[in-house]
Amino acid sequence: MKICLALTKGRLETQCLDYLKQLSFDVDPLIEKGRRLCVETDQFKVFFAKGVDVATYVENGIADLGIVGEDILMEYQPDVYNLLPLPFGKCRMALAGIPKEKELNRKYRIATKYPKIARDFFQEKGESVDLVKLEGSVELAPLLGLADDIVDIVETGTTLKENGLVVKEEITTFTARCIANRSSLKVKRSVIMPFVESLGKVAAL
Ligand code: PRP
Repeated sequence: MKICLALTKGRLETQCLDYLKQLSFDVDPLIEKGRRLCVETDQFKVFFAKGVDVATYVENGIADLGIVGEDILMEYQPDVYNLLPLPFGKCRMALAGIPKEKELNRKYRIATKYPKIARDFFQEKGESVDLVKLEGSVELAPLLGLADDIVDIVETGTTLKENGLVVKEEITTFTARCIANRSSLKVKRSVIMPFVESLGKVAAL
């Protein structure tokens, strides 16, 4: 019985493959996959998708397990088991912008890829804001005047720095997580649990 494992493309991909290599998982077929999105080994059927789609595939039982940033779980709240934190993909979710005081004679405007996280953050503070949803390169918004500030992921801080922006408030910190489909965890428990336990063992090192 093979485990279907969905991995996040892009930001987390290399860190995730390095981590699986530490588990003595043969990652060479995954590294050498070229543009293929799905790779089968003796033990696994591995496929690569965008973070939010990893959560959708796991929620719908197409993937038994997924590795995804916790930002995705906070924003989209998929109905999956959030099994364990992993020691990579360390990021902050932050309010950031041009380093100046806000002097607004209109509503404070925030650009973000994460409207739920941003809404919850400002609601908690009792602040009323207008949200502008963007799909990427969110740092452009305050530079071009689309928004006053942004709510976004900060990993190394390079994108903010190179665009003259600063963190104004940290919202939360998070890492990559291993998630599981609820029924897969019952039906394929005998193959899934040893793998999840080994993920956890390295996580504990
Ligand atoms: C993320 C995030 C920031 C950047 C932060 O974007 O939205 O733009 O990474 O990383 P850093 O602190 O290491 O510079 P991503 O690269 O995922 O692409 P996107 O802008 O297209 O969403």
